[in-house]
Amino acid sequence: MAKNRRIRPLSDSVLLEGRNIWTVNANPGVAVRGESLRKFRGVEHRRWDPNRSKLGAGLLRTRNDPSNLLPQPGSTVLYLGAGHGTTISHLHDHLCGRSNQHRGRLVAVDLAPRCLRDLTHLADGRPGLVPVLGDARKFDAWGVLIPSRVDWLFQDVAQAGQVEIFLSAVRRFLSKDGIGLLSLKAASERHQDGGDADIFAGAIAKLSDEVELVEHINLTGFEDQHALFVIRRR
Ligand SMILES: C[S@@+](CC[C@H](N)C(=O)[O-])C[C@H]1O[C@@H](n2cnc3c(N)ncnc32)[C@H](O)[C@@H]1O
Repeated sequence: MAKNRRIRPLSDSVLLEGRNIWTVNANPGVAVRGESLRKFRGVEHRRWDPNRSKLGAGLLRTRNDPSNLLPQPGSTVLYLGAGHGTTISHLHDHLCGRSNQHRGRLVAVDLAPRCLRDLTHLADGRPGLVPVLGDARKFDAWGVLIPSRVDWLFQDVAQAGQVEIFLSAVRRFLSKDGIGLLSLKAASERHQDGGDADIFAGAIAKLSDEVELVEHINLTGFEDQHALFVIRRR
């Protein structure tokens, strides 16, 4: 017999059904990475896999209200390390919606041309998504695309120096009281002494020097050796 799971909306477009996360599909009939499609009250949703998305895992792991991890629908946000667009697609469902009904803008930066190909393809059916081929460390080359500060910034670049790259982006792009999320992959910081715990402790010290650390979310079980840090700009 099917389990009757409690449904909890996190926004108009994101809902939790037990431990499953679903977003209203802004491009109906199209699955981005083979995820399940399912109708709730006649509206097509896509399953957001927390094993393939650190933001998705963060929504399930946070000790605070998970909706605090999401940006305001209709706002402009910056995402560094967009990859092939798995998380980006769900964020777009929430931020922009079908035909960009919320009038959001999701600037998605990645260094890899193969990722840009996928992101550009994704953007074809998703107005409001702006793929950018660029280096998160060299924002002079693409920062012009973000003329005003943003209230939400996400980084998942999985390369050495993640905290420093994140803090530079926070200084340059995040508004006062804006929320920043840093996905930190310990294995990418192997040049530093110590194990994962030391790497995470070092990150906490650097972040706390400059911004308010709202939460340290351990992603073990979804993404081993990863943590998600949630900060607020002072
Ligand atoms: C772990 S993947 C991102 C996965 C994606 N965030 C998701 O949830 O679907 C890391 C990405 O960061 C990109 N990357 C690494 N260094 C970068 C840099 N300096 N600037 C921009 N992107 C970078 C890589 O090309 C890769 O696509």
